[in-house]
Amino acid sequence: MEKSVARLLTTGNPKWLLGYSVAVGMLGVVVSAWGAGRDIDISLFVGALFCGLSFLVLISIRIERIVGKTRTAALKSSERAAVAQAMPLVYDRFDLSFPVPTLDEWTLEPGGLLLLHRLIEGEDPSVIVELGSGASTPVLAHLAEKQDRRFTSIENDDSWVEVTRQRLSGWDIEPDHILHHVPLADNPFQPSAPWYDTDGLDDIFGDETIDLIFVDGPAARHGTHRRQPAFTYFASRMSPGGILVLDDYNREDEQEVVDFWKQEMPEIEVSTFSGRKSLAVVRMPE
Ligand SMILES: C[S@@+](CC[C@H](N)C(=O)[O-])C[C@H]1O[C@@H](n2cnc3c(N)ncnc32)[C@H](O)[C@@H]1O
Repeated sequence: MEKSVARLLTTGNPKWLLGYSVAVGMLGVVVSAWGAGRDIDISLFVGALFCGLSFLVLISIRIERIVGKTRTAALKSSERAAVAQAMPLVYDRFDLSFPVPTLDEWTLEPGGLLLLHRLIEGEDPSVIVELGSGASTPVLAHLAEKQDRRFTSIENDDSWVEVTRQRLSGWDIEPDHILHHVPLADNPFQPSAPWYDTDGLDDIFGDETIDLIFVDGPAARHGTHRRQPAFTYFASRMSPGGILVLDDYNREDEQEVVDFWKQEMPEIEVSTFSGRKSLAVVRMPE
């Protein structure tokens, strides 16, 4: 609760602020009108003060939006340059001959792909799982196919399944054994957000042991702590020393999710890799 209030105050919510300031402005008008009808001078002053405050807040919201947009656009162009610089290394390490789908705010950064490559090379996982498909899927599927590892990607959004399916086909990778549509559903682990339907996951994974899981879904719009169930569901299915990689660790929500995982199993080891998005690498006990 304390954290939610802090988050509201620090990130602000322009819609609420807009509502409050319009309400204060209207209160000012009512106070002025009420006082004018009764010849109470102070009420005119108080009313004008309320209207003035409301006006100032509305103007500052407008300025913040304009400045915010400019700042985001500037960041995006520098990010694009960073991605362009790192891509040759990604093509080289993964030995890619097809064009990688554009990396954007939805996808892993090149640094994230390179980290996954390092983990796959260093840890030699036989079974790799991805929650949340995208540009990462053909890249990881290509590596897995080349190195004879089993790779499974889970996607909740049926229209996005189609996008990823076509990308895999475009890379000459047969999508059917790799990509699975598992819709979101209420889950027993985390009431604040839906998660992948566990019956669907049970059908896919059965009693398979997983060595490395890349947690990059469900998307943020699906609610608070939406990636928390990944650990609760998969922990007992991981091999000893298996690895979970969580993207977007720069977000407070994902940091709280990892804190929760640590409470669930204090023996896990967590390392973090910072970048614009940041990743957490969680190693299961041996
Ligand atoms: C963070 S994305 C997964 C990204 C993917 N692992 C990657 O690195 O490219 C999480 C979810 O957002 C949705 N998604 C991915 N890319 C999207 C896009 N460009 N537009 C809208 N939704 C997208 C999909 O449902 C996906 O499962």
